[in-house]
Amino acid sequence: MKTIAPSILASDLCDLAKHLPELEREAEWLHLDVMDGHYVPNITFGFPVLNSLRPKTKMFFDVHLMISRPERYFSRFAEAGSNQITFHPETASDIQAAIKAVQALGCKVGLAVNNNIGAETVFPFLSEIDLVLIMGTDAGFGGQSFNEKNLEKIKSVKEKILEENSPALISVDCGVNAQNGKRLLAAGAGILVAGSAVFKDGKPAENLRNLKKDFGV
Ligand code: DX5
Ligand code: ZN
Repeated sequence: MKTIAPSILASDLCDLAKHLPELEREAEWLHLDVMDGHYVPNITFGFPVLNSLRPKTKMFFDVHLMISRPERYFSRFAEAGSNQITFHPETASDIQAAIKAVQALGCKVGLAVNNNIGAETVFPFLSEIDLVLIMGTDAGFGGQSFNEKNLEKIKSVKEKILEENSPALISVDCGVNAQNGKRLLAAGAGILVAGSAVFKDGKPAENLRNLKKDFGV
């Protein structure tokens, strides 16, 4: 699977419903960033936004939780229509139990590797998870630049996935743009999460089409 997941953090939420049908023609996944002002120094949105969007699209809701103790809210995010829930392992009190809890709700599960966290944090869980989300820079804000040191991280996770015959996909989140997308895919990424690169100038579908052409996906 090689694809782009638009991240609505960079969208004008009031316009999003209008853009959803055309986004849905260009992408299967929609990336939703939930931030709590505690694990990361920023606050975004939660259940009401997911609930409003869910009936408007069949897109796969790729929910990225940047919150402390996410296990408190898994069931609420599942009820709000998440198809996949990704959390940062350092935020959960028991990673193994948290993975199982997400799966028991019928959702796919991902583990995120923040900018300053080593890839080996997720290695023990590769056989059970659906996604490793590798941050291009510190979680918390859109519009930042990709930190090149994370290219090696993508490669090492990909290597380990192949070695262990794990079904997990790799997504790269933060700082994905027209210039670096191809390299990230070549390093082993399957999904490129893109916020600003997709939603800039209020023309998400057109930008998405151009990025897909640039990346050859
Ligand atoms: C930031 C979020 C990202 C963000 C990416 O912590 O996890 O999903 O929306 O934004 P860009 O593509 O603008 O770097
Ligand atoms: Zn994200």
